[in-house]
Order: sequence, then structure tokens, then C-alpha cells
Amino acid sequence: MQDFYEHAPALKQELQSVQAIIEKTVDSAHAFIRTLLRSHVQSGGKMLRPALVLLCSRLGEESDRDKAVRVASVLEMIHLASLAHDDIIDSAKTRRGVPTLFAQAGAKQAVLAGDYLLARALALVSAEESGDMMNAQIVSNALARLCESELEQDAGQGDFFISKTTYFRRIGGKTASLFALSCYAGASVGKLPELERMVCHRIGYTMGMAFQIQDDILDYVGNKEKLGKQTGKDLKEGIPTLPLLLALEAEQEMDEQDRKLTALLKSRNKPLSKVSVTKAVALVKTLGGVQKADSIAQSYKYRALKDIQSLKNHEIATQLTQLFEKLAVRSG
Ligand code: IPE
Ligand code: IPE
Ligand code: MG
Ligand code: MG
Repeated sequence: MQDFYEHAPALKQELQSVQAIIEKTVDSAHAFIRTLLRSHVQSGGKMLRPALVLLCSRLGEESDRDKAVRVASVLEMIHLASLAHDDIIDSAKTRRGVPTLFAQAGAKQAVLAGDYLLARALALVSAEESGDMMNAQIVSNALARLCESELEQDAGQGDFFISKTTYFRRIGGKTASLFALSCYAGASVGKLPELERMVCHRIGYTMGMAFQIQDDILDYVGNKEKLGKQTGKDLKEGIPTLPLLLALEAEQEMDEQDRKLTALLKSRNKPLSKVSVTKAVALVKTLGGVQKADSIAQSYKYRALKDIQSLKNHEIATQLTQLFEKLAVRSG
């Protein structure tokens, strides 16, 4: 967390309060759940979603900082719950450099631990007295989209030949919707007019799209140690992401006998063997899939930055831009 916020001490301090609320929630759980969840919540993520809540909440003339911190905690807890569940779905062994809940305790306990975090997050939501702020309906919609998209992705596991539209819909649901909700909820705490809240929603959404595309790129070219999670997983798990789709698209321009990646993914038994994954990853890179995906991420980034520049509060606009720039160059 340090690297991201060292130049924004006020934000960093509020993020520490968010972390304290989450740890307190876990500490108040039954001893068994407490032990299970402690390392999961203490492993130190980037805290992007709460940072977005806190920054957007400052766009208004005045904002209740306690409320902003509570709402930020809700978003991080929803995120933590989704990670616990996502790691089961993806059979992931490490996250944030430590063993996942799934690896430590198995699927059954990891599901329930994630559910527990969600339940506690929802309790904090309903504690929000103001009707339009973290309104249960809005949270429910974002969560429903997240679940639908993870479900859709899982149901399509092993089918590498999906359209880009399908891919964008999936990542919109599983990642961008929570980023959008974070910005919208923050803007609501800051009592911004509805139109400006919608601009914040859009900033979160486009930022989230750029972020997930970058995450999908890092799965191909990232450094395992820096990322704190395994790489090369998406192909292995049968999940088609943008670098692959663009590489397959590039092959469509070639003669049929030269379409090596297409042939590899069509002919092999699922799941792909280690050798096939290595071959496919290399082909995706040589076909320019990573580069092309990066330029699409850049175009989302450009759209988000344009909206950020239109914000009236220049100080916050600058902080949002800085956060975004740091994200864009991250390799971990
Ligand atoms: C991981 O999100 C899941 C994706 C949406 C790619 P983050 O990269 O924000 O996870 P942490 O909280 O920093 O570990
Ligand atoms: C993000 O997708 C999933 C969630 C929204 C929880 P990924 O499956 O790509 O995330 P990582 O790579 O496991 O962090
Ligand atoms: Mg995953
Ligand atoms: Mg990923």
C-alpha cells in the first residue's frame, strides 16, 4: 500500500482507518473465522477501491469523513470477499504474496469466509442512514453483475473463441462495476449533484476496464514475485482474455495453415497441458496480442483521464490522475 499513497498523506491516513475497521470486524468474529480471515485481510492490497471512494468524496464542498471511511471499508470488504471467491474459481494458490484462503483452508471454508465478509460489509451498508448514498439497491446491482460475470466466465471455461464484446461485458461486470460503484458512492458521500455522480461513475468504470485489461496483460508478461500471484493462469484455466483474443484475430488475417495458435487451441484436450500453455503464451506475444491489448487499455485510460480533467476540484483531479498513472505503470 505504501508505494501508492506516500505522496498523499491525508488519503493514506484515511486508508489506515479503513484497514482498522476491517481488522476490527474480523477480530469481532468467532475465533475460528477470525483465525481464517486474519491473514487474508492483513496481506496488504493496493486498496484502490477505498481510495477511489475517499478521493471522490472530497470532490464535494464538504463531506462527512467518518461516513466516507465507512463507505470505503464496505467497498474493500466486498472486494476482499470477491477475491476469496475468485481464488476458488481460479484454483489460485497465492495472492498478495501469501497463500490464498482456498490454498490454506479449501474451497468450503473459503466460500464461507468470503460470505462472512460480504455479510459484514452489507451490515455496514445498511447502517448508512442516508437513502441515496450506499443504497442497498445500488450495491446489490454491482454485486449481481460481479456474480453474473464470474459465472458467465466460468460457464465458458475452455472456450477460447469468444468475441471481444463478450470479453468486455465480462470484465465490465467483474471488475469495472465495483470501481464505478466506488467512485459513485464517494461522490454521493460528497453530496455532488446527480450528473456529477454519473461522471464519477463513468470514471470508475473506464478506470476499471483499463485496470482489468492491464491485469490480463500482466498474466501474460508480469512478474510473479512482484504481482504476488501466479502468472500464466488465465490460459491454463481456460479463460480467454484480450491479449489472446487479439492474437487470434491477427491470425485470421493469415493463411489457414499458418494459424498455429488457433490450431493449438482447437485441437488440444482441455485443460491445456503445460507445454501447450507455454507455446500459446509465446504465440500470443509474437502475434502482438499483448501490445494491441495495451493500446486498448490506453484508450480506456484516455477516456477516464478526460473525464477526470473535467472535474471542478483540480486538487482531487490531480490526485486521481496520479493514482491512475501509478497504476498504469505498475508491474506488481
Ligand atoms: C485484483 O484486484 C482483482 C482484479 C480486479 C484484477 P487488485 O489488484 O485491486 O487486488 P489487491 O486488493 O490490490 O490485491
Ligand atoms: C478479477 O479477475 C476477479 C474479480 C473481480 C474478483 P482475475 O481472476 O483476473 O483476478 P486475479 O488475476 O485473480 O487477481
Ligand atoms: Mg483470479
Ligand atoms: Mg487476473
